[in-house]
Amino acid sequence: MVMESKNLERSIILKVKKILLAGIVTLSLANADDVLQKSMSIMQKGIDSITFGFMHNEVDNIKEGLELLREGNNMFSDKKLIEQYLPHDKKHMVNVAENQSKRITLDSNVLEINLDQKAYIDAANAYSDIINACSRCHAIVREW
Ligand code: HEC
Repeated sequence: MVMESKNLERSIILKVKKILLAGIVTLSLANADDVLQKSMSIMQKGIDSITFGFMHNEVDNIKEGLELLREGNNMFSDKKLIEQYLPHDKKHMVNVAENQSKRITLDSNVLEINLDQKAYIDAANAYSDIINACSRCHAIVREW
């Protein structure tokens, strides 16, 4: 009788542990997805604003866009986080993917410096390279 209730107790504890663990895994995955979506939508807004700025010669829009771009990029720059979103047969490309985030950071600085010096062509080249970096990472993630 005592043995039986001990066994029952143990199996209940195991079940509760399993449920808790499943909950934690689901929560952390949901959080990672939130971070990804937020990061991408902020970067998209940033790029939209920068594009508008270049097309209309509105430096303020470019600067506002740069801030958004940096904010979004910082949210999705962690190697472990990026790795989670690579397809199984592309995990070995995590460094290439991570480098695209670093490339965006560098390009943002180059863009800003050139903008401040009114070197608009060079600023526009940095902007183009940012778009290339977006596409490079998406190509890996989406198996283009
Ligand atoms: C390090 C990798 C990486 C970089 C760099 C990157 N993205 Fe993404 N992006 C992703 C992943 C992962 C997804 C989600 C999977 C998918 O949509 O195929 C995504 C999806 C998106 C989406 C669709 C989001 C949705 O809710 O469907 C947009 C928009 C987007 N990215 C914009 C950008 C822009 C703009 C840039 C560049 C400024 C950029 N991304 C750079 C990895 C990246």
